[in-house]
Amino acid sequence: MTQKRDSFSNKFGVIAAAAGSAIGLGNIWRFPYVLGENGGGAFLLIYLFFIIAIGVPVMLSELLIGRKAQRSVFGAFKVLAPKLKFFKVVGVMGVSAAFLILSFYAVVAGWTVEYTILAAANQLVDKTPEQLTDMFSDFSSSVGRPILYLVVFMAMTAGIVIGGVKNGIEKYTKVLMPILFVIILVLCVNAVLLDGAVEGLSFLFQPDFSKINGNVVLEALGQAFFSLSIGMGIIATYGSYIQKKENLLNTAISVSIADTLIAVLAGVAIFPAVFAFGIEPDAGPGLVFVTLPNIFNQMFGGYVFAVAFFILLLIAALTSSVSLLEVVVAYITEEIHLNRKKATWLAAALVTGLGVFCVIYPVLFDSFDYVTSNFMLPISGILISVFVGWIIGKQQTKEELEEHGGKVKVIGVLIVILKIFAPIAIALVFMKNLGLLDLFNR
Ligand code: TRP
Repeated sequence: MTQKRDSFSNKFGVIAAAAGSAIGLGNIWRFPYVLGENGGGAFLLIYLFFIIAIGVPVMLSELLIGRKAQRSVFGAFKVLAPKLKFFKVVGVMGVSAAFLILSFYAVVAGWTVEYTILAAANQLVDKTPEQLTDMFSDFSSSVGRPILYLVVFMAMTAGIVIGGVKNGIEKYTKVLMPILFVIILVLCVNAVLLDGAVEGLSFLFQPDFSKINGNVVLEALGQAFFSLSIGMGIIATYGSYIQKKENLLNTAISVSIADTLIAVLAGVAIFPAVFAFGIEPDAGPGLVFVTLPNIFNQMFGGYVFAVAFFILLLIAALTSSVSLLEVVVAYITEEIHLNRKKATWLAAALVTGLGVFCVIYPVLFDSFDYVTSNFMLPISGILISVFVGWIIGKQQTKEELEEHGGKVKVIGVLIVILKIFAPIAIALVFMKNLGLLDLFNR
């Protein structure tokens, strides 16, 4: 490689970009809803345990693989273990997973563009709950506008990725992530001031252990992986842009804290309002697009909060899709040697094309979601842990982490987690998703 590899300029840039990837629709829509169905506070406790015990180590492994190899996920395993050809499968799956996830993720993101515009144009007010429900189902099952907004959203994503790591991804995430944080704080303050907020908060924070069973536990682990963007080597590509002077353990911990905080704050912003206006907390996919507009309609200052909320959702989706597109772009520039500009437009066009099929054939949409999160994610997740735990091993892991980061005292624990605990836990989720763990059925 003759050219110097593009990199993030400093610690804040790294964290903004990686947190931008992690914090997405998974945090603001999915987390509150999954938590609502799985015992509220008790789910939260288990989720936190998995973030710390498995999420942080796996994220750290990905960052380490990328930085050590100085290659995106596709080439990383070729560089680190040229003899172990088998591990190349992680790179292949990482790039294909990024491609598939993005093609349905961008469709949902397109919905957020539509709803941001509707909210801003004051089109969500004075609608009955039935009208809002019809509006959403008519829109999401139509073809014209969803495709239009898919294209708009992908053009925005490409516009950021085309600038490169420092002058594109870092530049925008550094501005967008603080805005996201401010918006969610404002929404939270408003939510806790509502009459009846206490009920919503106790739903969120009061553990009801009777709701805990094997399924809930595995659900928490699955959510932790999706939310942190880990398990497919996608974060490894970002790791390859991190300078040697940065401390990877700190990065993994900071990003995990930011991701978890935003998920919890999303719950704080949503549940008090849900309870204050007497709506069921487990509304599913409609929660964000149907239930919340209803709530905003009944609320003082609802217009402002509706616009703020959909902008929040749009920012979250955008910075996540940037990370997914970057994985595909890095693959094309490194392996096919196109320049970044061409690679970005090519990747964006291919994803948009596939996204159009997802709009037209909802079954495709569902199966991409299903295959990526239930098959590709756990298989790669196991391979990544095993790779760092058993093949890179303790000595080299220690060297890579301590090069500039100072002494890492937890290295022994980390390796044990990666060698044994994480692969077994992920394998259990995998088997549950395959329906092999019926003993856990409620
Ligand atoms: N973590 C993002 C969310 O919470 C989604 C996401 C972005 C993702 N990149 C990923 C999930 C890579 C898995 C792998 O919405």
